[in-house]
Amino acid sequence: MNLPASPSSPRLFIGLMSGTSLDGVDAVMVTQQADQVAQQGQYFVPYPATLKQALLDLHTPAQDELHQAAVISNQLADLYAQAVHGLLAESSLAPNAVTAIGCHGQTIRHCPELAAGQAYTLQLGNHARLAELTGITVVGDFRSRDIAAGGQGAPLVPAFHQAVFAATDRHRVIINIGGIANLSDLPVNGNVTGFDSGPGNLLMDAWTLTHTGQPYDASGAWAVRGEVNQALLQSLLADPYFAQPIPKSTGRDLFNQAWLERHLQTHADTPQNVARTLLELTAVTIANALQQYCHGAQEVYVCGGGAHNLALIDRLQTLCGLPIQRTDALGVGVDWVEAVAFAWLAQRCIDRLPGNLPAVTGAAGPRVLGAIYPA
Ligand SMILES: Nc1ncnc2c1ncn2[C@@H]1O[C@H](COP(=O)(O)OP(=O)(O)O)[C@@H](O)[C@H]1O
Ligand SMILES: [Mg+2]
Repeated sequence: MNLPASPSSPRLFIGLMSGTSLDGVDAVMVTQQADQVAQQGQYFVPYPATLKQALLDLHTPAQDELHQAAVISNQLADLYAQAVHGLLAESSLAPNAVTAIGCHGQTIRHCPELAAGQAYTLQLGNHARLAELTGITVVGDFRSRDIAAGGQGAPLVPAFHQAVFAATDRHRVIINIGGIANLSDLPVNGNVTGFDSGPGNLLMDAWTLTHTGQPYDASGAWAVRGEVNQALLQSLLADPYFAQPIPKSTGRDLFNQAWLERHLQTHADTPQNVARTLLELTAVTIANALQQYCHGAQEVYVCGGGAHNLALIDRLQTLCGLPIQRTDALGVGVDWVEAVAFAWLAQRCIDRLPGNLPAVTGAAGPRVLGAIYPA
């Protein structure tokens, strides 16, 4: 029997993040004591190409998708367990040393904008199977409670950004560039704002795969040699999502290859110019969001895989007029911030503390997020 340690002594949590990029599972081991969060280890399990394709297929309605979703949930649990076992082996820890796993799950539908009472989010991952395979308590399905309370259910990382990255003497902004990009505004007065600005890497990734065979454009080296197609850029920027007021969150439901193809029908260009235009779209929409919602920002930090896209960061820096730093400078490496956030959210759930910020998600109030699958 795994007896819960007192919240005042350090406890170990594991965070598992599998985001819209569909690149794989980021796993971290974290110690938490009072407000202190310290990363102890990390492990990455890439998605096999077949799983990535199956997940992409599940984003659009199809025959027999309930069966597919259930089978893939099991497969995801196996990969999540592989990541957990990798972490445990690296740190020579037994499962009963870990208080809980916080598992984001793999989002395949995110529909918070549906009429009242119809909104939902669907994240795959068989948490019962993960608890069985690891012998560790699993906390999952973090979004649903916030949506039930009238919120967007996402982004959920701003509460963590506030707890760990906010400063009392400097107005910071955290930009997470995953498949989708999200911003957390952390002013010194504590009135945190957070939302999805729109596409991060996902359109660039899809275009790069189609035209170069690579899963992403390393450092943006391919795109940067193209030219921005202004007509195409303006057409993409005219999507109502960008002008929609906050709170807002999005996903592949809106920003997907079909969305891009629709715009390309009237604004076709060479693959490289389209790649450059997609990079510009990500940079411009993040910079516009920063300008509109983060007045007085003094420090900007990036995290997520997009932080490795040097051409993108360079462009973002020019548009923002502020130096762009990496979250490594705040103690968490760019690739692990979201996974650490889900370890933190698991702790919040286990301790029956709220995990959402109603000002960010639009929920009726603070809520304890997540469903618990005991070890
Ligand atoms: N060296 C790199 N150069 C450019 N982009 C990169 C690089 N490494 C990772 N990325 C981008 O980061 C993405 C993964 O980012 P991640 O933060 O895991 O997103 P998500 O949370 O949506 O899974 C990749 O799909 C790719 O687009
Ligand atoms: Mg990822």
